[in-house]
Amino acid sequence: MSDHQWSALMKGDESYAGSKSFLKMQRTIQQLLGFPYVLPTHQGRAAENVLFSATIKEGDVIPGNAHFDTTKGHIEYRKAVTVDCTIEVPEAQSKEHPFKGNIDINKLEACIAQYGKSKIPMVIHTVTCNTGGGQPVSMQNLKDVAAVCKMHGIPLIFDSARFAENAYFIKVREDGYQDSSIKEIVKEMFSFADGMTMSAKKDAIINIGGFIALKDEKVYQACCTYGIIFEGFITYGGMSGRDMECLAAGLMESTEYDYLHARISQVAYLGDLIRAYGIPIVEPAGGHAIYVDAKAFFPHIPQTEYPAQVLGVALYEEAGVRGVEIGTVLADRDPRFPGKSAHPNWSFCVWPSPAAFIPITTCRSWLGA
Ligand SMILES: Cc1ncc(COP(=O)(O)O)c(C=O)c1O
Repeated sequence: MSDHQWSALMKGDESYAGSKSFLKMQRTIQQLLGFPYVLPTHQGRAAENVLFSATIKEGDVIPGNAHFDTTKGHIEYRKAVTVDCTIEVPEAQSKEHPFKGNIDINKLEACIAQYGKSKIPMVIHTVTCNTGGGQPVSMQNLKDVAAVCKMHGIPLIFDSARFAENAYFIKVREDGYQDSSIKEIVKEMFSFADGMTMSAKKDAIINIGGFIALKDEKVYQACCTYGIIFEGFITYGGMSGRDMECLAAGLMESTEYDYLHARISQVAYLGDLIRAYGIPIVEPAGGHAIYVDAKAFFPHIPQTEYPAQVLGVALYEEAGVRGVEIGTVLADRDPRFPGKSAHPNWSFCVWPSPAAFIPITTCRSWLGA
């Protein structure tokens, strides 16, 4: 955390109900992100648990862009399924495509046509898309997805762990945003969402915490019931007052261009160094991590012997660097057939190239999480 956050920590109000630190966090989220209703949780997956308890039922279908594994887990735990509508990028453009986290509007429309609005309680757009390599989503895509959702009366929820990094990529890569501040971009991004879940360990730069923010009071009230059961009273939700103080300070700092530029440039620099050693990586470099293509790294290891898992173990043994496989071992199991990996025949496939990626991050929050 920053010096500003450490000093904010000393001001934590630890009242059980109505903590001043909660009010400060709520005000910051309202002003910065534009949501009137805020419910704290102890981290991002807890926000998913609370929101999905209030909104998702067995048999539902949740389209999105390569849902994060905890998100997918919480959906499948409820015997609902995800549909991955991420754009497919032709091989030739793959290294330069600026927004590989975008949702393909045709895929989304087809999913809604196939399952019908009554089975789709929400669309989840993950900004940036961690599973896909920390790849960002363009403002245009957020706008287009929101228009489709609005037309069908389906709420649009952002999984927002790295929303500030996403705003940075919009500023530097999307036409028309070069002169906008990160805070202006963030405000516009969230104007397209009905709600959000947040893992505050990422772009609020704190050690533990999360929240749900919503525009609809009824959904908020429904979430409050589950928040109290799972997390704690609605003005702390598993967080201490000092953590809420730090979260408020962190949100303001993480939405500053200079901070984001320094952080994201470190990731790009790491990518340049790794590439210079001839190691195959996912390009362009994402916002928070470099993803090594383990299948290309270990061409002699067949898929059935988990090349990315092997790389993770070997890297740790050799260098003490902790990465993680993103592939078959991490992937969920098909909720209809426990024990079996979810696969493309189940109308979707999260892993374009299973067992292929291992992110190595420069970011302390990931290494420590
Ligand atoms: C996109 C995304 N969503 C949700 C989560 C889950 O958050 P937490 O680890 O705080 O439970 C993460 C964590 O890495 C994430 O990257």
